[in-house]
Amino acid sequence: MVGQATQALKMKQEYLGMVLPITITSIWWWSCLIRGVDASPQINLLNKGCSQYNATNLPDFYTNLNATFSDLKTQLNKNSTHFATAQQARGSDPVYAMVQCRNYLSAADCAACFAAAVSQIRNCSAANGARVIYDGCFLRYESAGFFDQTTLPGNVGLCSNKTASQATAFSAAAGKLLVDLQLATPKINGFFAATKNEVVTSGSGNETVYGVAQCAETISKTGCQDCLNVAYANLQSCLPDTDGRAVDAGCFLRYSSTSFFPDNQTTNIASFLKTGGNSRKKAIIIGVVVGGVGLLILIVGVLLYFKLSRKPEAARRGDILGATELQGPMNYKYKDLKSATKNFSEENKLGEGGFGDVYKGTLNNGKIVAVKKLAILQSDRAKANFVNEVKLISNVHHRNLIRLLGCCSKGPELLLIYEYMANNSLDRFIFGPKRGSLNWKQLNDIILGTARGLAYLHEEFHVCIIHRDIKTSNILLDDSFQPKIADFGLARLLPDDQTHLSTRFAGTLGYTAPEYAIHGQLSEKVDTYSYGVVVLEIISGQKSSEIKSDAMGEFLLEKAWKLYENGKHVELVDPNLDPNEYKPEDVKKIIEIALMCTQPSAAQRPTMSEVIVLLKSTSSVENRALTRPVFVDSDKRVKGDTSTSTASSTSNATVSVSQVSGR
Ligand SMILES: *[C@@H]1O[C@H](CO)[C@@H](O)[C@H](O)[C@H]1NC(C)=O
Ligand SMILES: *[C@@H]1O[C@H](CO)[C@@H](O)[C@H](O)[C@H]1NC(C)=O
Ligand SMILES: *[C@@H]1O[C@H](CO)[C@@H](O)[C@H](O)[C@H]1NC(C)=O
Repeated sequence: MVGQATQALKMKQEYLGMVLPITITSIWWWSCLIRGVDASPQINLLNKGCSQYNATNLPDFYTNLNATFSDLKTQLNKNSTHFATAQQARGSDPVYAMVQCRNYLSAADCAACFAAAVSQIRNCSAANGARVIYDGCFLRYESAGFFDQTTLPGNVGLCSNKTASQATAFSAAAGKLLVDLQLATPKINGFFAATKNEVVTSGSGNETVYGVAQCAETISKTGCQDCLNVAYANLQSCLPDTDGRAVDAGCFLRYSSTSFFPDNQTTNIASFLKTGGNSRKKAIIIGVVVGGVGLLILIVGVLLYFKLSRKPEAARRGDILGATELQGPMNYKYKDLKSATKNFSEENKLGEGGFGDVYKGTLNNGKIVAVKKLAILQSDRAKANFVNEVKLISNVHHRNLIRLLGCCSKGPELLLIYEYMANNSLDRFIFGPKRGSLNWKQLNDIILGTARGLAYLHEEFHVCIIHRDIKTSNILLDDSFQPKIADFGLARLLPDDQTHLSTRFAGTLGYTAPEYAIHGQLSEKVDTYSYGVVVLEIISGQKSSEIKSDAMGEFLLEKAWKLYENGKHVELVDPNLDPNEYKPEDVKKIIEIALMCTQPSAAQRPTMSEVIVLLKSTSSVENRALTRPVFVDSDKRVKGDTSTSTASSTSNATVSVSQVSGR
């Protein structure tokens, strides 16, 4: 019994995400319990959790969240009700919310409990789902409807870990009480019952056990029954502890040796326990006939029920009470990835990126993925970082950003698993074997989609993620040639001293903003700069780091600027493009936007959301005066030493930066 109780406490710790030593937790638990009995709103915390996914548009989300909370508050106040739901779906992030107070709370206590729950649940900040369960009430919100949910993984019994003095008699009385509550509550209008039962003891002194059961009012009678069945089973392991609470998505069941509701709130449940009186005779006859079969079915049923309702002891932290989208990144098994990629064979290799090699893998279920083997130093700190960053990256969802599906860490190896893009990367379509196969409309979509992906990373995700390595080989294309940016967030895995001008970045210096390449000054405008270079590459079909024989020995940026100055924009366009597909003024506009992005002063470059507006506007951007880019000059030295170069953001002078060729 003691073992069971310890187990239950351990589970509770796990559920509440506590890392405190067990003794401190016990003290905390008991102090809460004592406070819980005294304090009338009964705000001792039983369970809480936040979704690991954040809302995408925070202003929309907070507006909706605030509106639902105030709606719930109004309903509780106005109708003195103990249950309310509300929803708001303005904009991109809908919020569905539900509050329920135990019916024995006064209206004032219910309001107090709700207020406490709101302030607690706001700790989840931008999470798109969360819940708080107190003794007195619970509050939950999600990004999708959940009002019909009954029982979900993560349901749990919380035991007090203090054995009742008259263990056997107490267990018997509490067991009977719980059975009664479980049977009667679904039949009661409002799905709430509070009752008590005398503990029959041999000695002197009369003890009582108290209990309540409650279901969400939006579920069906059967749903309430199902949920309480599970709750009942969860509390079986608490007996003969003095207190037990079972929490689940659609119901709550509690017993205690201490009175925790006013005496005049007791429900008379006796009438709900009778089996229909006048059909009694019929029942007996039917009973005799089917009794034998029924008994058999019952036994099988009971066995099956217990088998099914026993949850694995170490329930996953991930999906507590269906806070719907709580999954973190999925952990893949190394041996599965090894066999999926044919032992990371050359044949399966898709490419060699700055952060490691990428392999095509076919998982056992037939799903095709891209597996990136990270080539990053393995300190303990890097590993701790890895877990956090992977969690962050896996929460980034945008149609122009590659989805991170999961990760794997085995010994020194860190692997990331991404969705697979059959069309590979943009560079192949611009400079590589498939050159000329994309039409003007497709190129335009890629230019706009890439801007959208970057704007999301910079401005809409709750953490500003600067990519730092935007280039055509990092822009992948899906089946319909929509762009998806790869490798975002990975620069955050690098130790601080490795982030700027490491060999990793030297390889793509042609894309790197001068202030970052030379001074290591990092801002989201570093990505704006690289984006501008990518746009020029897309339009011209020329690599930024390459001197084309037909040009006058100029790098792309210099060439683009000269043509712009002379009003000859159209000459920059890749001759492979059909001139009937594009209008000269569209070309002009895009080139001007690109040159705006590559201006030497970061402050003068537009943000990515401004870029989107400019791309979509029909008017020309001519009236903006552009500053001439700082030209990256040829390769006097190989790499590293940039100390002799100086770049002044106001100067228009050509600066010589060591240039390392593309690959
Ligand atoms: C929502 O409510 C919180 C707390 O009252 C407040 O700080 C925040 O500014 C509100 N947000 C919006 C968008 O109304
Ligand atoms: C969460 O919210 C409660 C109530 O506002 C506050 O007391 C507590 O310090 C907050 N932080 C955490 C980590 O729970
Ligand atoms: C129950 O008793 C309390 C005092 O103990 C009283 O304030 C309350 O009005 C009573 N409620 C009902 C429904 O009789």
